[in-house]
Amino acid sequence: MATTPEYTAAEDPILSMDSVVSGYGNTTVLHDVSIAVEEGEIACLIGPNGSGKSTLMKSIYGFADIKSGTVTLDGEDITGRSPQENLKNGMSYVLQDASVFPNMTVHENMLMGGYVFKDDDRAADRAAQLYDEFPVLGDIKEQKAGTLSGGQRRLLELARALMVDPDIMMLDEPSIGLEPKFIDDVFERIRQLNDLGTTMLLVEQNAEKGLSVADRGFVLASGEIKFTGTGTELLNDEAVGRLYLGG
Ligand SMILES: Nc1ncnc2c1ncn2[C@@H]1O[C@H](COP(=O)(O)OP(=O)(O)O)[C@@H](O)[C@H]1O
Ligand SMILES: [Mg+2]
Repeated sequence: MATTPEYTAAEDPILSMDSVVSGYGNTTVLHDVSIAVEEGEIACLIGPNGSGKSTLMKSIYGFADIKSGTVTLDGEDITGRSPQENLKNGMSYVLQDASVFPNMTVHENMLMGGYVFKDDDRAADRAAQLYDEFPVLGDIKEQKAGTLSGGQRRLLELARALMVDPDIMMLDEPSIGLEPKFIDDVFERIRQLNDLGTTMLLVEQNAEKGLSVADRGFVLASGEIKFTGTGTELLNDEAVGRLYLGG
């Protein structure tokens, strides 16, 4: 694995993968992957299609099969822990194919995001707070989610993931399929949430955009981490640029 000279690996990571080999059933996708993210950082994972970025996120969260290695959250081994447990423990995850429930209203979708509370009042209070932060959603909360525009839907996916007031958010391709003005909107939200203390792990096909907001970046190819560095270092790295940024 190549690292750039000024880069220092996370010393006291909130989230890490150590030598993880994982995949689906008999299929191995990740080969000996290690990453570590410090509390309060934005970390961004980039890499070609099919390189295993979504699988890496799924391996952390309990949606893929880990064959060896460990996932650690705040010093605790969480390898193989279920998605529900992870959500309860303050990690939320917006999947690449995140989908809203089209036949439910925006508000009902929001309440689903807080189902782990098993407390309707608490969920309703949290949703109300989020409508203050996302007035666009408050305005359309009685609308069926299936009628939303792409940008509104992405906002709902983000806000729904915030229902648990997460310490860590994992976002798989938050900008995919969005018009440029909505992409800026989503990245602005990511920065704001991070400013409020939420640690972010992003996967981005828009590598320039993703790395430009990232404190730490990882380049994954063929299921292996090939480069790691600060976002700026990776953006300026000649080999990363040539191989992975189309430069
Ligand atoms: N549920 C699954 N079962 C079997 N193979 C899968 C599954 N999901 C993804 N894969 C395979 O894992 C590899 C990596 O996919 P993925 O993690 O989605 O890559 P990326 O997100 O980087 O595009 C691909 O070869 C893909 O076909
Ligand atoms: Mg993917």
